[in-house]
Amino acid sequence: MRYLLGLDIGTSGTKTALFDELGNTIETANYGYDLFQPKAGWAEQNPEDWWEACLNGIKDVVKNSKVNAKDIKGIGLSGQMHGLVLVDKDYNVIRNSIIWCDQRTEKQCQYMTEVLGKEKLIEITGNPALTGFTLSKLLWVRDNEPENYNNIYKILLPKDYIRFKLTGIFATEVSDASGMQMLDINTRNWSDELLQKLDIDKNILADVYESVVVSGHVTEEVARKTGLEAGTAVVGGAGDQAAGAVGSGIVSEGIISTVIGSSGVVFASTDTPRFDKEGRVHTLCHAVPNKWHVMGVTQGAGLSLKWFKENFCRKEIDEAKEKNINIYDYLSEKAAGSKPGSNGVIYMPYLMGERTPHIDPNVKGGFVGVSLINNHGDFVRSILEGVSFSLKNCLDIIENMKVEITDVRVSGGGAESEVWRQILADVFNHPLRTIKASEGPALGVAILAGVGVGIYNSVEDACEKIIKGQDLVNPNCDNTALYDKIYKVYNSLYPRLKDI
Ligand code: XUL
Repeated sequence: MRYLLGLDIGTSGTKTALFDELGNTIETANYGYDLFQPKAGWAEQNPEDWWEACLNGIKDVVKNSKVNAKDIKGIGLSGQMHGLVLVDKDYNVIRNSIIWCDQRTEKQCQYMTEVLGKEKLIEITGNPALTGFTLSKLLWVRDNEPENYNNIYKILLPKDYIRFKLTGIFATEVSDASGMQMLDINTRNWSDELLQKLDIDKNILADVYESVVVSGHVTEEVARKTGLEAGTAVVGGAGDQAAGAVGSGIVSEGIISTVIGSSGVVFASTDTPRFDKEGRVHTLCHAVPNKWHVMGVTQGAGLSLKWFKENFCRKEIDEAKEKNINIYDYLSEKAAGSKPGSNGVIYMPYLMGERTPHIDPNVKGGFVGVSLINNHGDFVRSILEGVSFSLKNCLDIIENMKVEITDVRVSGGGAESEVWRQILADVFNHPLRTIKASEGPALGVAILAGVGVGIYNSVEDACEKIIKGQDLVNPNCDNTALYDKIYKVYNSLYPRLKDI
């Protein structure tokens, strides 16, 4: 049997997972790390923390699986997108990475729009200037930390920094590179026009490959540290959303996915680049050669529940410990104890500004409609509902772009909650299929690795064989009518509240 390793360098931690060539999960490891918020709206992480988590994860998985390292034929890397990692000429990290949800770059986005124009930006990069994407972060460093900017030798995305540590090679691939906003998504290569107009030296960018191409091989030093075989192939891999989509079989038109991770995403694969004129959903290269995708992103999905848990659930955390159940399962029980509509409470999930549909880095979150009857469970449920409304905003825009929707699949940590899955099906008014493989992005990039080393003929072929749908969650028609009403109220809140 041949094996494939997938790494997913996420926001709360890194998942390392080993699969056999049939897609069965053999062994997994998870290592967490901190997120630093030096100011409101800022978010940073230390790339060395990611690397330590990867080293520990790989070591555990190789050792505990008892698989002969020679039989691990390829490695795929996935990770949080858009993060800016700066490396100097001695290959040291210059400053903490400014990560995807950081919102400090509004001024730089205005500058990008002035220089290139919104339409041109959408035409080249698939997106208007976005605070979350890497380019505006790079410009922020140029404007605010000139010394750091002058020391840049290469800029890398989170997973591509890990590739460098594993292989010694500076490389990236099209799906994640398109989230940097310097790639021409039509030609799937860096845009000379954009780089010249913004006066950015192309040499600081890594070589860009298709996601299934072998980009490097594990070094002797890493082999000694991890138990991997030196020379093991590392393929391009993908940004976490494209990787998760491959791991859920979203590789052709018609099947769309919704992911409740730290952020929440609605994702559709397309055979040609498709744009929303207002740029409210992203258009990016897919990890499948010659395919693209559109995705709507709500910034604070799982992040909202995690924030609420950490700040308002001390008692529930203790109770869950006493009962020996996972705190998120316990919070789901609390949400189930409330009612559809959360007894009047509506939550707006704008804890880190918002992308889809508002593209507003300054909007703040809120609970509206609170009264004396409300209890803790209502607040928890309103978070699950508010995030689902925001995902419905993403779905609506994609539907209006005339992207075909036949099957909707759901995955991500939040989708492990039966209550949240049902709320989402009710809000979407569409059946949702859960996917058997819970490893999402890690499985997706293991599949890409399998294609890269010749185990599978194509990504589509591998997905057909490996990805199996599981339960179908059908919408409950009593709830869909109610949620339809509340959705209208939810949509009326942003325009009314944004100025205050
Ligand atoms: C996608 C995005 C997030 C991050 C973190 O555009 O910003 O999904 O990749 O998961």
